[in-house]
Amino acid sequence: MQQQGPIGVFDSGYGGLTVLKEIVNTLPQYNYIYLGDNARAPYGNRSFETIYHYTLQCVKWFFQQSCPLVLLACNTASAKALRTIQQKDLAKIDALKRVLGVIRPTTEIIGLHSRSGKVGIMATNGTVQSQSYKIEIEKFYPQLQVYQQACPLLVPLIENGEHENAGADYFIKKYTDELLAKDPGIDTVLLACTHYPLIQDKIKKLLPVGTEVLAQGNIVAASLQDYLQRHPEMEKLINRGGKLKFYTTDSTSDFDAHGTVFFGKPVQSEHVELEG
Ligand code: DGL
Repeated sequence: MQQQGPIGVFDSGYGGLTVLKEIVNTLPQYNYIYLGDNARAPYGNRSFETIYHYTLQCVKWFFQQSCPLVLLACNTASAKALRTIQQKDLAKIDALKRVLGVIRPTTEIIGLHSRSGKVGIMATNGTVQSQSYKIEIEKFYPQLQVYQQACPLLVPLIENGEHENAGADYFIKKYTDELLAKDPGIDTVLLACTHYPLIQDKIKKLLPVGTEVLAQGNIVAASLQDYLQRHPEMEKLINRGGKLKFYTTDSTSDFDAHGTVFFGKPVQSEHVELEG
């Protein structure tokens, strides 16, 4: 018989906490554990092999904590590692466990938001280079024009708590200007990085009035709720009680200070050393 356990939520750093916050609001009945691989963040500019290796190591850690289901609340890891883990590794590790990502839930609904048929994707280098958004959106909305903008400096600025400062404004404007230069008709912009909700208001102010700026947290939370309704065999394996535990591969005092900003409530983390 499969062991019950909490839902695992993963990000390279703090960004996944913006997703976890929405998931807990939507599904408060379950237990969750969050892991931020802060010691090796950001992932965005790293190679496919490195991101895959790091993500798989973290997924295995979640499985050791008895999580039946792990959500990669990181676009970069979802873009570069999820498919290989689902198709190659899961069968070898434990075929009954599941790993989900954040790209598919978002691409399923993005076409419902655009009137002009032109959408912008702001993401890390890794996510943009993987072309995952273009490929996945094409499956659901083949008529949609998708413009991608890599924003390599935003995660480091946000991870270092510099996003409220004028130096960050310069780069946010540079990236929104570059995106609009690709097509001024873009009317929907997806924040395809779980760190960006912290600068959502700044991004919105720099885009033409009426542009819809979508963050992923509530989209992913609704999709997870739907997934658990469709998969009662998985839902039964998730333990209940509304408990939350936070882990980081780096300093717990830094995690607690920064994590609180992303989660919107105080967080208290434990340090974890990954094996393998
Ligand atoms: N929050 C991650 C994402 O959604 C940031 C990745 C990184 O570490 O660069 O892509």
